[in-house]
Amino acid sequence: MPGDTTGGLPGPLDARGARPAGSLRRFLPQTKPHRFNFALAAFVSLGIVTAQVAEPEFVKRIVDEVLSGKFPQRLVPYALITLGLGLTWPCLAFCRRHISAWIAFGLEYEMRNDLYAHMQHLSVDFHDGWQSGELVTRAVSDIARIRRYVGFGLIFMFQMGMQFVFVLVMLFVVDARLAVIAIVSTAPVIIVSYRFSILYHQISRQSQDQQGDLTTIVEESATGVRIIKAFGRMPERSALFRAQAQSIFNTNMRGVAARKRLWTLDVFLLGMSIIGIVLFGGLQVIHNPNTFSIGDLAQFVFYQQMLVWPVREMGWIIAQGQEASAAAERVWELLDTHPDIKDSPGAQPLETSTGRIRFENVSFTYPESDTAILEGFDLDIRSGETLALVGITGSGKTTVAALASRFYDPTGGRVTLDGRDLRDLTVRSVRKHATVAFEDPILFSVSIRENLLMGKPDATDEEVWDALVAARADDFVRELPWVLDTRVGEQGYSLSGGQRQRVALARAVIGRPRILILDNPLSSVDVHTEAAIESALRERLPGSTCLLIAHRPSTLLLADRIAVLRDGKLHSTGTHHELLVNDPYYRNVLAADATEAEEVNA
Ligand SMILES: Nc1ncnc2c1ncn2[C@@H]1O[C@H](COP(=O)(O)OP(=O)(O)OP(=O)(O)O)[C@@H](O)[C@H]1O
Ligand SMILES: [Mg+2]
Repeated sequence: MPGDTTGGLPGPLDARGARPAGSLRRFLPQTKPHRFNFALAAFVSLGIVTAQVAEPEFVKRIVDEVLSGKFPQRLVPYALITLGLGLTWPCLAFCRRHISAWIAFGLEYEMRNDLYAHMQHLSVDFHDGWQSGELVTRAVSDIARIRRYVGFGLIFMFQMGMQFVFVLVMLFVVDARLAVIAIVSTAPVIIVSYRFSILYHQISRQSQDQQGDLTTIVEESATGVRIIKAFGRMPERSALFRAQAQSIFNTNMRGVAARKRLWTLDVFLLGMSIIGIVLFGGLQVIHNPNTFSIGDLAQFVFYQQMLVWPVREMGWIIAQGQEASAAAERVWELLDTHPDIKDSPGAQPLETSTGRIRFENVSFTYPESDTAILEGFDLDIRSGETLALVGITGSGKTTVAALASRFYDPTGGRVTLDGRDLRDLTVRSVRKHATVAFEDPILFSVSIRENLLMGKPDATDEEVWDALVAARADDFVRELPWVLDTRVGEQGYSLSGGQRQRVALARAVIGRPRILILDNPLSSVDVHTEAAIESALRERLPGSTCLLIAHRPSTLLLADRIAVLRDGKLHSTGTHHELLVNDPYYRNVLAADATEAEEVNA
């Protein structure tokens, strides 16, 4: 996980791992549209608390007025009122839960959409640097944690807070001295809960990070299952998984231990305080029965219980709040990452293009790396020509392809399209004119048609077939069980490597781009098919510029010109035959033995 993506966060964790709830507070503006529902939930909570606090008052009256024998006729009305209150508050609580669910799931839905939209805008190098498991955890479970807290925890906390204040007032109304005893005896619980919250925050963040790592292991094992099996590495993968699962277990157990300690202390401290109340209250009843009745004591014990409850629940809500704030921190780490590749302030769209791309003294170093891949690289790809780029493996050919369609910006020099710096054009228009087909084709788990429509959303079936014909993919697509509607990709019909490459190529050409960048997209296709595809592409894309990255001489023969990349610079250019005659380095690159090529030219 890259370390520099935390920009904008309130600062590194301090020694104890506590962080102000700032990350959560930053989500506050997003709750604005739900203000009405929050207010409604608060209002209903007020009703719940009022009904609950009123109940002991009638218990007291029953004890003092009815049971003492003074007004036996008041039993029925008091009992009915108590029953009414006892029925009212659960009904209100039901309504409150419904409103909080409405808020919570609404918020979760919005946050998830925002996060997803944000991730779509981030540059390729962001995705290079983040493990996908990490992203999945943040988009799924971290947001769910925030939802639980903001939607349920916060409203509950509000209700508990209110209950605490109401009960406190009632305690003072009944007996000020006993009220002070009750408060003093609950203070240690609050202190213990606060200390616990700091510890819990640390544990919670650690557990969430570890879960992200575990997701990554599962995902890699699933996508790389063939390789793992081929090398017989199942035991090692299982061991890795077990070790990670074990560390999550350990962290969670630390959390449980902390919770257990809190709970035990809580129960002990609260038990002590109840004993105190009963002792002092009992003495009052014995010595001053006129100012402190048995009903008062009964009411007091009820209130004491009601005071205890919010304090005890507070520990749980604090824990939930800590989890949510750790989750919020992790979500903000994503939201605070800004795309490196974005439209510069004065960026202009390029409506039409002649398809001329130039690299002018381009240098490039990948972020997070200090090895320069290109240094003073010059290349002029003329409008309408097919230029093949050749170089040993790792020489930077894919990098050149990525720079040409602005997946990265050069660290020095410039790349121009029709003489204009790519950075002065809108990203959208650059990508519209320059389309790349990569060597490793990713097809989505949708139908063949939908995969192709990614390249041109409004394409007709005729255009889809036309592109498939150009990529020589039409024959096998016709044989598929549901033809164009056959679902492919990870969850669909399995295609061979060469078939997938051809579908991906069809997706690249369907939009008839002015510049087609083919990064070895036909490496899994046989020589004859490749030649057929190349000529079909020329027919279909007359006048289009093509940057072709390939190794096979048969492919290179099709190019108008070949450029040889060596040590980050343009080494030579010419036709296949010219280079064969004049450039020993070229011959050796073709011989596909990189070390030999290096030695010959050393
Ligand atoms: N995202 C990245 N971050 C850091 N370094 C990278 C990244 N992608 C590639 N590199 C490095 O840049 C160098 C050039 O890579 P590139 O993929 O452009 O080579 P290539 O010529 O396309 O190789 P091949 O013929 O094997 O496809 C390699 O040394 C590679 O390790
Ligand atoms: Mg490559």
